[in-house]
Amino acid sequence: MRSKIVAGNWKMNKNVAESKALAEGLVSELNGVSLDNTRVIVSPTFVNLTTVLAATEGSAVEVAAQNMHQEASGAYTGEISADMLTSVGIKSVILGHSERREYFGEDEALLAKKTDAALANGLEVIYCFGEVKEEREANIQEKVVAEQISGALFHLDAAAWSNIVLAYEPVWAIGTGLTASAEQAQEMHAFIRGFVADKYGAEVAENVSILYGGSCKPSNAEEIFSKPDVDGGLIGGASLVAADFAAVIKAI
Ligand code: G3P
Repeated sequence: MRSKIVAGNWKMNKNVAESKALAEGLVSELNGVSLDNTRVIVSPTFVNLTTVLAATEGSAVEVAAQNMHQEASGAYTGEISADMLTSVGIKSVILGHSERREYFGEDEALLAKKTDAALANGLEVIYCFGEVKEEREANIQEKVVAEQISGALFHLDAAAWSNIVLAYEPVWAIGTGLTASAEQAQEMHAFIRGFVADKYGAEVAENVSILYGGSCKPSNAEEIFSKPDVDGGLIGGASLVAADFAAVIKAI
């Protein structure tokens, strides 16, 4: 049975005090809310991971990192390894976000190495992918997404997929207010699930959680989350306000 997951990607926002306040505010907003089997994850910047872990301790809120390096250690100034993340209590990591791809040149070959390093250290991987506007306009979104998934993940064995979460984020919808329609999300999620099933079989495909990301917010979350192959969301802007993120969570 795959999990419902609502994850908040805080990106490069919130200093330590603001992160503590946001995390505490979210815990307070969710106090007494029945989450059933829904997982709630927040993803602050590296410098705020331990503060947010402490602020959410004892609550249902999990904490993920936004990235990591593929090597175990070495001369990689400014980078963070999987072991450093697990050593402070992090259990999940977002990889392949479109902003990492755009601004830092991350491609499927690198993301395959990052995924291997994360899984080897026991981290769950929230793997992001999605087409850009021009690819959607050319109607090649399924080809693009298939390459992004297969290029980084299809070297894995079936067992490894128990620690993979997929996050479809059409780049043209990220931070733009241009949300994919619930029908567009369902169409792509169904394609993705079928694509994974063709490679690994129905059991793996049915058990992998596929999240939608891209301008998902309180006003549209319920319709998007109502679709059968949408298992939750990866939320940017709306996760930076505790009440808004709680409203998105309650919509699932
Ligand atoms: O990773 C989630 C993010 O890319 C979505 O951003 O602001 O469109 O919800 P936003």
